[in-house]
Amino acid sequence: MSGDVVNSKKNAGYYAADLVMDGNIVGLGTGSTVFYSMERLSERIKSEGLCIKGIPTSIQTAIRARSLGIPLTTLDDNPKIDIAIDGADEVDPDFNLIKGRGAAQTRERCVADSAEKFIVVVDAGKLTRKLSAVVPVEVIPFALTHLCEKISDMGGLAAVREGVRKDGPVITDNGCIEVDCDFGDIDDPECLEMKINNIPGVVSCGIFTEFKEKIVVIVGNESGIEIL
Ligand code: A5P
Repeated sequence: MSGDVVNSKKNAGYYAADLVMDGNIVGLGTGSTVFYSMERLSERIKSEGLCIKGIPTSIQTAIRARSLGIPLTTLDDNPKIDIAIDGADEVDPDFNLIKGRGAAQTRERCVADSAEKFIVVVDAGKLTRKLSAVVPVEVIPFALTHLCEKISDMGGLAAVREGVRKDGPVITDNGCIEVDCDFGDIDDPECLEMKINNIPGVVSCGIFTEFKEKIVVIVGNESGIEIL
């Protein structure tokens, strides 16, 4: 990652963390940008005595939060979240998102859905006129071949995501398989999201179109942020 991108992510992440208020239940997304939000939350807990509880969207986020001294809770214990902070892989002008580079999109969707405010933190490189990144899809192992055939019928190209320093597929935090589906330019994200999520065996895909009403996108740049 270049220095510019690191600073951009940090500026966006820190700004979002400063929106969190005392007593909040905070959805903690997954990825490198949210890591900066957690770093700033940790600072605020230590310097201001900020009192919050985080709900992590992945094992990675839970481990990081614990190491930063951020108290955690569960969605079962706190089904109403005040504010969720999460990254994205692509954001279009209508606030449609592609998520799931970290294979955490299912829990991220649950947390976004339960949150009153959904703060998306990105660097400017994530903004696009039209979504076209690969669409991550989490599928139960039983339905893997079925999913790949359905994606092909829909004009997409499905590739099982391979582990790094682990042979074979990426197994998600939910014990499922992550499949990256390439559709090229996506003309109708809402329709594609619905079609993929309706394939039997799919847990959740990485297209998020349903949170527009409550999304605030914070775009970090080298010197500060812009709010969309
Ligand atoms: C995790 O599964 C993803 O949805 C991330 O939120 C997304 O990939 C953003 O990650 P970065 O902040 O690391 O770019």
